[in-house]
Amino acid sequence: MNRVPNPILGPNKFKFGLFNANCDGGFAISKAPERWRCEWDDVVKACVMADEAGIDFILPVAKWRGLSGEADNLGRSFETLTHGAAIGALTKRIGLFATVHVPLATPAFVAKAIATIDHVTHGRVGLNIVCGWNQDEFGVHGVSIDPERRYDQGLEWFKIYAKILEGGAAFDWDGEFYKLRGVTTNPLTLQRPRPPIMSAGFSPKGRDFAAQAADLLFTSVSNLERAPAIVKSVQDFAARYGRKVAVFTTCHIVCRPTRKEAEDFYYYFAEEMADRESLAYIVQQKEATAGSDIPKSERPDTNPQANTRRRGKIYAGTFPGCYTIVGTPDDVADEMVEMSEAGLAGASICFLDYLTAMPYFIQEVLPRLERAGLREKEGASARSVAVA
Ligand SMILES: Cc1cc2nc3c(=O)[nH]c(=O)nc-3n(C[C@H](O)[C@H](O)[C@H](O)COP(=O)(O)O)c2cc1C
Repeated sequence: MNRVPNPILGPNKFKFGLFNANCDGGFAISKAPERWRCEWDDVVKACVMADEAGIDFILPVAKWRGLSGEADNLGRSFETLTHGAAIGALTKRIGLFATVHVPLATPAFVAKAIATIDHVTHGRVGLNIVCGWNQDEFGVHGVSIDPERRYDQGLEWFKIYAKILEGGAAFDWDGEFYKLRGVTTNPLTLQRPRPPIMSAGFSPKGRDFAAQAADLLFTSVSNLERAPAIVKSVQDFAARYGRKVAVFTTCHIVCRPTRKEAEDFYYYFAEEMADRESLAYIVQQKEATAGSDIPKSERPDTNPQANTRRRGKIYAGTFPGCYTIVGTPDDVADEMVEMSEAGLAGASICFLDYLTAMPYFIQEVLPRLERAGLREKEGASARSVAVA
């Protein structure tokens, strides 16, 4: 079977992943009626728009219940492996991550599912390995997560997954978390030795896990001035294992023709319409599983006060740990250039409403980043279609 290039590993110096379009809410903690409702046909439209515009990959979020509060954002979500197979069949070039919670799916199950998507897409899949943070979501499955051991289980899980995809004779596995017999899979993935792996973490244990298992690490850069130090810390972890890991962050984008319009809209959905009950739930659930390897006050997800942005305040309707960029296309492009200069390899991007907000980002911000030398011009021809 012919393979196509996987943009997850492609030439763009600063890559973008369409984030969370498989869930409702737009990754804001907002009750604003304009928020993303996650209707399937709209999800397809957003993913096809990203594909045609040259966005590098789609990164769906694995969720099993919502974030409480009135809005209960992320309460409606499409499962990511099946989402990947379906969107993979409807797109032509974009990379597609599927997100898997370690305690909920065996390595053999995921190896087979990922191989399926890799064949459907002719080699465009990637795997996001998530060790879990919200015990309530795992209660849905009757499973408990151990805050101190979740990454240890994740590492054993990864080793089995990698061994399965090496191919060869069926094997037995006698580990601490898994006792397996006659493990094998067929077909193997088209991408060899396996499709790219990402993980998302901020803690030292999360970084150590990524240093051993991941090709890309998504981490919170809640303060741009700290970005170079964060990138260096991840690279120091990776160097211990003789590896390199591309470091990404996650951004919420509010881009309008003037700063005033952008600031007013951010204030509206993230301050006036903030779902404070939901924010309290997130912080409480994050604290419960944060682990003891880093003080909770230093974590951007358990301490919303640690989140900053370049101009103005951070409002309560902002997902803790997700860097918010508010401004004109020049402002957005400037902050992304700064991220790239700090050593970041890219960002996952989310919008309050993808179909309303993405065309402007595609039309105005992507060309600025091309001119800055951070992105190739591959999506340029499609842009007129995307914004028509
Ligand atoms: C880009 C990104 C994607 C994530 N995707 C998921 C997801 O799909 N499901 C989930 O439960 N958690 C997800 N998380 C949360 C992380 O897996 C993790 O819990 C968080 O980054 C904290 O990690 P730490 O405890 O190692 O600091 C994501 C985080 C980021 C930044």
